[in-house]
Amino acid sequence: PRSIIIDTDPGQDDALALLLALGSPELEVLGITTVAGNVPLALTSRNARVVCELAGRRDITVCAGADRPLLRPLVTAEHVHGKTGLDGADLPEPTMPLSPRHGVDFIVETLMTRPSGTITLCPLGPLTNIALALLREPRIAPRIKEIVLMGGGCFEGGNMTPAAEFNIFVDPHAAKAVFAAGVPITMAPLDVTHKALTTRPRVDRIRKIGSKVSEAAVGWLDFFERFDVQKYGSEGGPLHDPCVIAWLLEPGLFTGRSCNVEIETESQLTQGMTVIDWWGVTDRPKNAFVLGGIDAEGYFDLIARAIARL
Ligand code: BDR
Ligand code: CA
Repeated sequence: PRSIIIDTDPGQDDALALLLALGSPELEVLGITTVAGNVPLALTSRNARVVCELAGRRDITVCAGADRPLLRPLVTAEHVHGKTGLDGADLPEPTMPLSPRHGVDFIVETLMTRPSGTITLCPLGPLTNIALALLREPRIAPRIKEIVLMGGGCFEGGNMTPAAEFNIFVDPHAAKAVFAAGVPITMAPLDVTHKALTTRPRVDRIRKIGSKVSEAAVGWLDFFERFDVQKYGSEGGPLHDPCVIAWLLEPGLFTGRSCNVEIETESQLTQGMTVIDWWGVTDRPKNAFVLGGIDAEGYFDLIARAIARL
């Protein structure tokens, strides 16, 4: 199986991404690192363990990482994800321990001790931990197989400001460092996640599984959807973060192209914007593969199959 570290700020869609990864034998989850984002660090660290326990995986190493962005004050998204970050399902408080290691240490040490070129990083939240790991130990950069992340937008505009998507907006300086690190990057921007909508039939397909895990997943999907329906006027809300895991499992579900991506960190108006040279109008180096299209039915099938396995 392909070895991955998931860096996350759960978040209902992060939780679905974790279930997709844990329910897919093609992936080996070496550990989960948490970051402040949708809600503060204590809650994202709790929520990651709630999901592991739900999936029957108390053995997974969960390490708390950065509690705030590199330079900016933390901005959270309780307005989208609820007070706990994981509202919508009624699950017990986790009892599995949080690792005593810092998430950034875990990322650095795992990359330095495992064979070079074998580990894929999957950031699903602000890129603070990934940037800190690269700054702390630059020798990890050539050892990373790939970074596959959810964040940014090309033609779709932002969901936090008119220009910026939440994950990049929260820590634009971290994003800038990550995109400049010379590591192969695949990014799932809003352009693709806004085509992956939680329509009623797709949610019902998961509901039909009829397990404890599917019941929680549907609770999260229904909760998450409520807000986005009002916001986007679409049937169902966008299911962002599992796109990262789905890309690893079934890249044929997606289309995209290699582009130059730069991050705006100066402008008040467009702070956190991902400036994506989709049409190749500059000769700046192509530093990311940017996903643009998705077979949404295939995507939800993949998720349903993984949940059924748990
Ligand atoms: C991203 O922001 C968070 O609210 C979601 O979990 C996702 O990672 C979407 O903009
Ligand atoms: Ca997230």
